[in-house]
Amino acid sequence: MNEKGICIETKNLCKTYYNSKQGVHVIKNIDMEIYEGDFTIIMGASGSGKTTLLYLLSALDEMTSGEVYYGDRSISKMKLKELVNFRRNEIGYIFQGINLVPYLSVLENVAVVGKLTQRKNRNVVESCKKLLCDLDLEDEIYRLPSEISGGQQQRVAVARALINDCDILFADEPTGALNTSQGENLLDVLSEINDKDKSIVMVTHDLKAACRGNRIVYLKDGKIHGELSLEKFRKDDLEDREQTVYNFLRKRGW
Ligand SMILES: Nc1ncnc2c1ncn2[C@@H]1O[C@H](COP(=O)(O)OP(=O)(O)OP(=O)(O)O)[C@@H](O)[C@H]1O
Ligand SMILES: [Mg+2]
Repeated sequence: MNEKGICIETKNLCKTYYNSKQGVHVIKNIDMEIYEGDFTIIMGASGSGKTTLLYLLSALDEMTSGEVYYGDRSISKMKLKELVNFRRNEIGYIFQGINLVPYLSVLENVAVVGKLTQRKNRNVVESCKKLLCDLDLEDEIYRLPSEISGGQQQRVAVARALINDCDILFADEPTGALNTSQGENLLDVLSEINDKDKSIVMVTHDLKAACRGNRIVYLKDGKIHGELSLEKFRKDDLEDREQTVYNFLRKRGW
């Protein structure tokens, strides 16, 4: 029996995309929980529904049927204003496609999100500069996204997701555009955030990134196809951890 609190729960969650006449069922009757303080990893083949599931869990997209609960609040029953405030104040999201605003500077990209939050008593620009500094971007703050590298853009996207001091951070392939050492640095940042008891849900294809989590959920054809529980991440047991995760993934056809 898991003694941790549940921060998100889904019931019979479904998502169907209607492109032409035919619907494509992408998420199929998923019942799952996300636990408070966990670093949850979602893995699965390309097209298995990971990004779609992350959008539904974070209330960025509408489900076709079923429900997502945050405590006793059901997402589909929230009024628009409540939903907007929820998205602004309670979640942070690092998009798979980065999605920076091309005509805003690095600093403005982060500050524009910071200024939307209802959390008060903060100097948003100073908080943004500090966060960008922590992410090694102090020399880039006045540049446009097109004037910095892909890895730097990815770190700006991380800063933008963290500026609201959200309760739950969602990250879709956050190391996708990074080289090995940049990827490790970013994962260190995420691990530090998780050590402060912030819940993280991260999609990744990368074994090393997956090892940072303490729970791995494997998705196949829009359904959960097994999960693995691990202790919290410690650098000194990395080799054993990689082997355990690798064995779990191999058994699922990864
Ligand atoms: N807006 C959309 N309209 C129609 N089909 C979509 C849409 N978004 C995603 N799909 C389809 O849903 C399926 C799951 O897509 P999703 O982006 O969730 O996969 P994924 O597991 O994140 O893949 P990847 O690892 O490549 O990012 C795919 O078959 C995709 O083509
Ligand atoms: Mg995806």
